[in-house]
Parts: sequence; C-alpha cells; structure tokens
Amino acid sequence: MSVVDEIKSRLDIVQYISRTVSLKRAGRTYKACCPFHGEKTPSFVVDPGRQSWRCFGACSTGGDVINFAMRQHGWTFSEALNELGKLTGVEVRPRSPEQQARDEHTDRLRGLMKAAAEFYHERLLDPHDADASRTLAYAREKRGLTDETLARFMIGYAPPGWRNALDLFIPLGYSEDDLIACGLAIRNDNGRVYDRFRNRLMIPIRDERGRPVGFGARALAAEDNPKYLNSPQTPLFDKSRLLFALDLAGGAIRDSETVVVVEGYLDAIQAHQAGYTNVVAQMGTALTETQLKLVAPRWAKKIIMALDSDAAGQSATRRSLEVARETLQADYGGRLSVDIRILTVPDAKDPDDLIREHPEAWQGLVENAVPVADYVIAMETAHLPPKASLQEREAVARALLPILNASESDLYKKDNLQKLAMKLHIAERDLLAWANEQTVLTRLKAQRTPVPPEMPDDIFGAPPDEIDAAPDRGDAPALPSGKPRSVENGLERDCIRMLLKDPELLYPINRKLRELAGGEDTLLNAPLNDLCLDDFSHPDYRALASLFGDYFDQDEHDVLTFVRSRLNHDLVTVFENLLREDLEHLRPKLRHGLGIDLESVTYAVQLSSAPPDPMGDALTKALKLRLQRLQRERQELVFLQMDDEEKEEALVQQIQIVIMHSSRAKQRIEAALRDMSRSLHQI
Ligand code: UTP
Ligand code: MN
Repeated sequence: MSVVDEIKSRLDIVQYISRTVSLKRAGRTYKACCPFHGEKTPSFVVDPGRQSWRCFGACSTGGDVINFAMRQHGWTFSEALNELGKLTGVEVRPRSPEQQARDEHTDRLRGLMKAAAEFYHERLLDPHDADASRTLAYAREKRGLTDETLARFMIGYAPPGWRNALDLFIPLGYSEDDLIACGLAIRNDNGRVYDRFRNRLMIPIRDERGRPVGFGARALAAEDNPKYLNSPQTPLFDKSRLLFALDLAGGAIRDSETVVVVEGYLDAIQAHQAGYTNVVAQMGTALTETQLKLVAPRWAKKIIMALDSDAAGQSATRRSLEVARETLQADYGGRLSVDIRILTVPDAKDPDDLIREHPEAWQGLVENAVPVADYVIAMETAHLPPKASLQEREAVARALLPILNASESDLYKKDNLQKLAMKLHIAERDLLAWANEQTVLTRLKAQRTPVPPEMPDDIFGAPPDEIDAAPDRGDAPALPSGKPRSVENGLERDCIRMLLKDPELLYPINRKLRELAGGEDTLLNAPLNDLCLDDFSHPDYRALASLFGDYFDQDEHDVLTFVRSRLNHDLVTVFENLLREDLEHLRPKLRHGLGIDLESVTYAVQLSSAPPDPMGDALTKALKLRLQRLQRERQELVFLQMDDEEKEEALVQQIQIVIMHSSRAKQRIEAALRDMSRSLHQI
C-alpha cells in the first residue's frame, strides 16, 4: 500500500473534518457551511462512503482528506503527507535525495534563525553592555514597550561590529553560506563576509506558526538609513507571504472573526501590548493576495484596514483594496464574502502613537471603521473639480461600480448607488444599468465553473486556434477537480509582450475598439470597451496586465522598470522569459551566438524582422484577443443557461441580452479583421 493509501486508510474523513467544521448529517452524507468561503446556506458536503468532500458553492472544488488538509492549512502536498503521517503514525517515505537535502537545508536555516533571534534578544538584555542598555531604554521609554512585550515579540539588539553573528555561529557549525542564505550575513564583491544587521533594534518576523524567518531591523540613530533594514528574500522569508504578528494574533482573529491590518511593526506591537490582539501588520507594502488568504475568509469575516492618512497610504490602499476584491470575490453573485472596512487614524498619527496616548480610543476607531464602499466613494470623488464634465463624472462612476457592486448585500448596494448618484449628479437608473451589465459578467466569473468539454458553438464557431493545449503537469500531485487550470495562452502572451514593448499601442487599440462600437453605449461599455484585465484569462498575464494598467497612473518610470519593480516573485521568471523570447527567437540568426552585445544588436535585428505593418499587426492581435475573450465569456454564458437549477427569470433575460451584444460585437470585429487582412495583402 502506498503511503497515501496507508494514511487515508487510517483516517476517517468525517472524523477528521469534524475536528474543525461542525458537520450535520444529511442522509448518506454530511453537510456544513463551507470552511473555505463565507456562505449562509451549506454547500459543503462530506461523503463518508467515498471518503471525499466537495464544495458545491463558490469553491466548486473537492477531494480527499489530504486535499482538505492542504487547503485548510495551506500545506503543500508533501507537508500534508508529513503532518497526516505524524497524526496517523504512518512513516512517510523519505523523499528524493535532492528533496531531502533541500529539506535539511531549510531545517538548518530555521534552526539558525531561531538561534539568531534568541541571540539578539539576549544581547538586548545584557546589563554589562552600555550600548545595549541605551537601546533597551529606547525600547522601554521612547517606544513604551513593557518587558513582557519585549519578551513576547523577542525584540532584540544587534550590536555594532561586523562579525558578531558570524563569530557566534561559525564555531557552532554553521557555514558562512548558511548565514548568507538566511540573510544574516552579506558577501561583498571582494568576497568579504560580514553581518548584515549592525547597531539596530531587531524585530523578529515570524511565520504563522511562530518560527522566526526574518528580521525588521530598526535604525537607532535618525541619520541611519534605511529606517528599517529588512531581511532579504530567502528560502524562509518572503515578505509578500507573511503578516507580521499573525502567530500571536491567530486566536483572537478566529474568536472575533475580525482582523485589523496596520502598516508598521510597531503599530502591531503596540496594539498587542494594549490588549488588541487581532492586529497584524502588512510591513509597509500593499497587501498581497497570499497575505489576505492567510486570514480571510478562513478565519476573518471582517477585515479592517488601518491606514496612515497621507497620500502614499491612499494609493497603497487602493492597490490593497483591489487585491482584496479580486481575492475575496469568490462568493456566489460576485459579492464580497468578507466585510472590508477602513479605519483612519485622525491627526496624521499612526496607530502606535494613538494607542500609546489613548489606548482606549482604538476600540472606538475599530467600531467606527467605515465600509470600504463609503471610503472609496469619498476617495474617488474627492479630486473631482466642482464643475466636472459628465465625462469625468462617468469615468469615476465606472471605476467605482465594480467595487460597489461587490458589496455585501443588494440592499447595501442600492444604498451605495444612491450615494454615488447624489455625489456625481448622475441618474440612479443609469448607474444601475451600468452596474447590471457588470454584475452579470462578474457573477459568471465568480462561479469559476469549469467549461464542459463539449460546447455548442452556434454563434462563435470553433474555439480560436490560438488557445494552446494545457501544459502537461505530469509530476504534480492530482489537483482537486474543478480547480481552474491555467491554460497557457499564446495570444495573451503575444499581446502583453507587445504592450510591454510599446505601451503607446494601447491608444490606437482602444481607438479602434471605440470606432467599432460606433457610439453605441451598450457595446462601448461591455464587449467593445477599452482593452482591460478581462481580456486576459491566464493568471500570470492577468497579473502583468494589471501592473501594465498601473503604469499609466504614474509618469516617473518607463514601463519595464515600473512593472519589474512591482513583480511578486512568482512572476519574475514569467516576465523575464517573456522579454527574453525575442532574444531566444533571434538566437539562430546571430552569427556570434548569445553574447553580451546581444541586447544592443536586438534593436537592429528587430527592426529588420519587424512585420511590414506593425500597427496593423498590433490591431489584429488585439482584436483577436478580444474575440477570444468574447468566446470565453460566451462559453460561460451558455453553460450557465444550461444549468437549469433555480434559474432566475431576470438573470436569464440578462444573459440573453449580453449574448446579443456580444455577438454584435463579434461580427464587427470579424469584419474589421477581414478588412485589415485585405488591405495588408494590397501592400
Ligand atoms: P513607517 O515609516 O510608518 O514606520 O513604515 P513605523 O512602523 O511607523 O516605524 P516607527 O514608528 O518610525 O519606528 C511602516 C512600515 O513600513 C516598513 C516597515 O514594515 C514599517 O513598519 N518599512 C518602513 C520598511 O520596511 N523600511 C523602511 O525603511 C521604512
Ligand atoms: Mn510609527
């Protein structure tokens, strides 16, 4: 029997899941509200006969007990095997020698980080070291931290000097490379190795299980830059996947079903010290999807984001809100299953200052946090001039509608529409019409229904041939069925590459789409709207497209610098490969092979290999991309129509209208493509 079978044979899925989910018997099976998304009517079913579970709601996914544990704890397949192996007393077979070596290396680094946190903590408390005593006084007096807090957060002190950590750990059997690998030491260009953290207050950053994985090291002198020196990305430390203080906040978050997200380490520490233990810090960056998923909707049904009142805080907030919306939109109907609220600390203070001065005031701010919809309405309309044109007001409305549309209940949504209508002097029924268009599509997307293999294709004909086959994922553990696969998509890749190389192409493309809409609002607003995120289905290209969109909101950096600086680490390779493809493609054409001069010759070669009509080529690609999206949306629509369970009359009608507009748009695009290819042949 395989290890997997052995573990499964020793675990009863009903018993295992009942530990954390209260299951109710329903005939042959058991039911509950799905633990993986917020819902009010149970759609989570456990089948003891098959030893399987499935969520028929928003997740539309399921699997066996191992998949359940993976999903619940965010474990990888092998972590789940290890943990469940321990639970059932099944010895999990050693992994491949490479894997084993890697695991050992990681364990080693964990041991080192733990020892380092203890070392710095002890140094802070060393009564014989005058520098340490000064730092301790800073922590106690200037920052108002109690000894209990210093111990709970294991706050430490890295003394000045280039080799304190090295001299301690090398004799203990760690190598210089170990210290470098976990970010404690640096090797310079001359090969000299030295401590990264010197003369700083050390704040250990721990993962949700309380294991130190990095440090935020605060400068002690005002002239020391940066203010916080953080651990670099290491095998253990990824800032975008961690929330500071989550290890101490987990219990309170689960109990209150609420998480408060603050910006800085000391904001979180101060909140905990005052007894507000459901507070975590996002460490100065915009919230990422992975960070959100650590807490919501699994534990928290309410997320309160505490913001600095400055403008930088606001644009970071916007990004965080967008991430939150994308991440949490899984509920049926595309409604946010999580209530997001915004807390603003008055008088340009941060939570740290406020809590230190008036610990009791925090509670009030938390209770009075405003719903995200109110906040964004205020934020987006604030910069509108008093006599804004209809166009300007409409643009604001369209940007806001998806966020408002995603709010908790229909009643609430209506309330928001009223507010927006008043603010913008736009008739509520216009807003409602725009919102409805958006709703149908959002709703479809929210269902994340896998497209059935055989689709009637009466309107669109065969699927576009640009869709490549799904990549073979031979060695990956079986994915739970129903999980959307990321189908590699050549056309999306081409388009995003084309735009990254020449962002200005966006304008003629959008002009072309508008021209095709011919002033018809219904086409202009949906199937022939400007190029947007919905044109991309592959998660990587969607992410790049979204960064590409952000690029237009600034004018400081060129597109490649801008996008590159914002890539999360999963995307770096995708991005680099995308740009490199041109070079790879040129490789055989180059006499001298790939040398350093490649970049410089690329331009010249590109010019010579450029299509005869670059603009025509770009427009063709973009229009094909749009056709592909319409096809995709149409498949979803058809599928939804076929699903005749509890179909709402209004929804059916809306689907039909959307299909009608979509096929009109499709006909126009196809006609334009025919024209363009004809005129190309004439050249
Ligand atoms: P702040 O500048 O608001 O710092 O940055 P703070 O937390 O209020 O720090 P104090 O009160 O002056 O000591 C908020 C967060 O941004 C990250 C840190 O996570 C910080 O807590 N940050 C800030 C950095 O990573 N590096 C920096 O240089 C500054
Ligand atoms: Mn502060």
